[in-house]
Amino acid sequence: MNNRIIVAIDGYSSSGKSTMARRLAAQVGYRYIDSGAMYRAVTYYALEHGLASSDGRVDTSALIAALPEIHIDFIPASDGKQHTTLNGKDIETEIRQLRVSNVVSPVAAIPEVRHELVAMQQRLGLEKGIVMDGRDIGTTVFPDAELKIFVDASARTRAERRYKELKEKNEDVSFEDVLSNILSRDEIDRTRKESPLRKADDAISIDNSGMTLAQQDAWLEDIFHKTVEKCQK
Ligand code: DC
Repeated sequence: MNNRIIVAIDGYSSSGKSTMARRLAAQVGYRYIDSGAMYRAVTYYALEHGLASSDGRVDTSALIAALPEIHIDFIPASDGKQHTTLNGKDIETEIRQLRVSNVVSPVAAIPEVRHELVAMQQRLGLEKGIVMDGRDIGTTVFPDAELKIFVDASARTRAERRYKELKEKNEDVSFEDVLSNILSRDEIDRTRKESPLRKADDAISIDNSGMTLAQQDAWLEDIFHKTVEKCQK
């Protein structure tokens, strides 16, 4: 019997949902998909092809026309993580840079971009056994997911985490810039017309501001195993 389930993890930028999703997937032998990386890959393509600029302007119709040229995939890399590829090129480092973060929300607000990526995400989930994180996974991509989690943390905590990550990668950024990027992405993600960031009614909430990774892992694994058990009955 196939008792594999779909785990949908949604939440705000830098809430730690990717770490949570990746660690759960590794622990239970599921595939992890970072849906945000897909929006970032489209954004990177737009920047590289002059279809978006760093001030947040996007040539929407040209980007929509280019969508058939954009092929995104995930490959296992030597660091043990999955890397995002765009038309065969590993762009994992590039898509995490502030240059991409600053423009990704307007790109992710374009309905045609969302339709294309949501269809791809749904194909990836056909065989279940997947943990996917994003903003609309429990509401739009997999409304029937067996387990839905909604992750939150204060904006300051999230900015501190992102700032530390960027500094470790030697990015030249100020804390204020990171905080303001997070606040503006929250606003765009929450207020866009097409599948805005929203907690699914049947999602379980967690605020991980004061939690250690170990506490977070234990909390999620416990809920995961209980859900699988319930689904078997
Ligand atoms: O999780 P992240 O910060 O890497 O996501 C990047 C952007 O992509 C974020 O600003 C919102 C958008 N996004 C989205 O709209 N829907 C998703 N399922 C995932 C990400």
